[in-house]
Amino acid sequence: MNQRHAGKVAVVTGASKGLGQSFALRLANEGADLVLVSRSPATKTQQMVHDLGSKAVVQSCDLTSETDIETLANVVQEKFGRCDILVNNAGIYPFQPFEQMSFADWRKIFAVNLDALFFTCKAFLPLMKPQNWGRIINITSNVCWIVAPNVTHYTTAKMGVIGFTRALATEVADAGIIVNAIAPGLIRTETTEHGEQAGMFEMVKQMQAIHRTGEPEDVAAVVSFLASEDSSFMTGQTLMVDGGMSRL
Ligand SMILES: NC(=O)c1ccc[n+]([C@@H]2O[C@H](COP(=O)([O-])OP(=O)(O)OC[C@H]3O[C@@H](n4cnc5c(N)ncnc54)[C@H](O)[C@@H]3O)[C@@H](O)[C@H]2O)c1
Repeated sequence: MNQRHAGKVAVVTGASKGLGQSFALRLANEGADLVLVSRSPATKTQQMVHDLGSKAVVQSCDLTSETDIETLANVVQEKFGRCDILVNNAGIYPFQPFEQMSFADWRKIFAVNLDALFFTCKAFLPLMKPQNWGRIINITSNVCWIVAPNVTHYTTAKMGVIGFTRALATEVADAGIIVNAIAPGLIRTETTEHGEQAGMFEMVKQMQAIHRTGEPEDVAAVVSFLASEDSSFMTGQTLMVDGGMSRL
């Protein structure tokens, strides 16, 4: 494998399973050391990263807690003294009709999917700036374009991620930090296979230009590109990785 991330330290949120695990493995396979962040310890991912020959530190963290994120940044500073790549991937996506949604439900979705990015970027920009180099990759969703029922809170929060990406990119480009987002379509993970999306795989395949189910590795390849030197002249962008379901 190409070692294009050798010497880099990558923080991946939501790394215990699903897309986050796949991102961590791809970056590790290409030489990065990893900080694996999730609610419960990402020890399985840690073992997989070690098997690939990279270092991995596991940090349990509630990303809705500013204190937890400050602790996380301190751990990264102590263990590695640097952060080059931040992948804001953790997210939750429960289906809920708008009229049955309380404001607490709405706030909870915003807290994990959008507010957490405020805290992680605040915490890690001070580590990236002295290096004059950084990559921030935010995971949004193609639901912002296709618009699905019963995810008003999620769609709105993920739209916020796109706005945040564009705005932050503008502020930090002069510090050598580039900020982009990825909008996956329906991707096969434990959560989508066993959740309310389970019945949608066949329908979505037909709606895509590429008639196969998206796999976490399809998105991980784009994360690796955005994390690399190859993406150095693009920032504030949102890349759709959805088999051509949305064609912008
Ligand atoms: N899978 C898909 O089809 C799909 C499509 C579009 C976008 N996305 C987005 O991709 C991301 C990952 O999706 P997935 O399917 O891999 O999810 P998943 O359910 O498999 O994994 C979610 C991860 O986020 C972590 N997490 C959730 N809440 C947290 C919190 N409060 N604090 C710390 N960690 C927390 C979990 O511990 C877990 O590691 C999400 O942002 C999701 O919205 C997924």
